[in-house]
Amino acid sequence: MENRDKNQKIWHNCQIVTMADGHYNLIEKGVIVTNDQKIQWIGPEAQLTDVDGDYEKIDLEGRLVTPGLIDCHTHLVFGGNRSEEFEARLEGVSYTEIAKRGGGIQSTVNATRQASEEELFLTAKKRIEHLMADGVTTVEIKSGYGLDLESELKMLSVIARLKETMPISIHTTFLAAHALPKEFGDDSDRYIDYVIEEVLPKVVEQCDIDALDAFCEHIAFSPAQVERLFIAAQNYNIPIKLHAEQLSSLHGSTLAAKYGALSADHMEYADDSDAKAMAKSGTVAVLLPGAFYMLRETQYPPIDAFKREGVKIALSTDLNPGTSPLLSLRLALNMGCTLFKLTPEETLAGVTYNAAFALGIEENEGSLEVGKLANFVAWDVTHPAELSYWLGGTLNNRVIYQGSEITDLC
Ligand code: NIG
Ligand code: FE
Repeated sequence: MENRDKNQKIWHNCQIVTMADGHYNLIEKGVIVTNDQKIQWIGPEAQLTDVDGDYEKIDLEGRLVTPGLIDCHTHLVFGGNRSEEFEARLEGVSYTEIAKRGGGIQSTVNATRQASEEELFLTAKKRIEHLMADGVTTVEIKSGYGLDLESELKMLSVIARLKETMPISIHTTFLAAHALPKEFGDDSDRYIDYVIEEVLPKVVEQCDIDALDAFCEHIAFSPAQVERLFIAAQNYNIPIKLHAEQLSSLHGSTLAAKYGALSADHMEYADDSDAKAMAKSGTVAVLLPGAFYMLRETQYPPIDAFKREGVKIALSTDLNPGTSPLLSLRLALNMGCTLFKLTPEETLAGVTYNAAFALGIEENEGSLEVGKLANFVAWDVTHPAELSYWLGGTLNNRVIYQGSEITDLC
């Protein structure tokens, strides 16, 4: 092997689940050679030649290595929490009813507007640390609890600070059309005008955003309103995503596919026609079993149709204070198996290979292959199905982020 220098590391004594093409592709007795932040070579130890030279050799203690996990849909910056609303839901009040009474997303908007940047930063940091302890090396974070220019910029600035200071890749999604803020009464068209004319231009000017998202639902915004946002995003060349078919079927996912969305998320009420449209555009279906579970939903996403049509399926925590206060991506994997009948291999693909497509980062992340980032986790388990099998606890994992081991995590 050529060009070995002191930034090279040989990670050995492990079995590797590469997740190339979304499958385990197990390498027994494997080795990963990294150079700075990237993977330079990967394969069975027996095939590694030319092991002399200047490099650091690191023993992975016989562990099972997977790509770093990607949590591709979170709302983890927020003020307050909604445990009282959870209690109300247990007493029979629905999520929709709570939203119509001015609770739900609006109550988190109130708390987020009141919170200082520092408070938002510190609480979000702790939530990210929970995810990192579970092997997450890339996380997407949405704005959307500000819903006015100043508060959306505050949220985005918190996300930017998390990105600067934490050893994890952060993808930023602008989600202004999440709910109609109370100051707009019932005039949702006027709010969309405001977002397009006043908020989006400033956000683009001042922040580094990776995607635009919206909530297409009868309690939020119509497909026609979402389409106006998509056109605005297109004018700025911003990739799009959409919360779609969570509570009812409005075919937001078909609309998202028409605009080439990276993903359509939730998807419980999607149908065959949505799956066909998504397959055509390569739009990933991001399933959020935490929200399905917390809302005690009974309508299942059309997983058979996704598989038949060849739609990639990703899984995510949807970490948010209302529908999914889920701090563990591993638990989302378990729910993907138990609630959605996915196989452990499919759930792992959902937080690695397919999740990378949902963020448009498949060139660099999602599987362990030469040229991709050296983001990987060495788990203290013997079979990859254990990642979706164990409930809670920690799996004593070692996390390698961009070629360096993170040493200060539990
Ligand atoms: O992904 N569905 C819309 N947005 C979030 C929930 C937000 C909230 O209830 O605070 C979700 O489930
Ligand atoms: Fe969400």
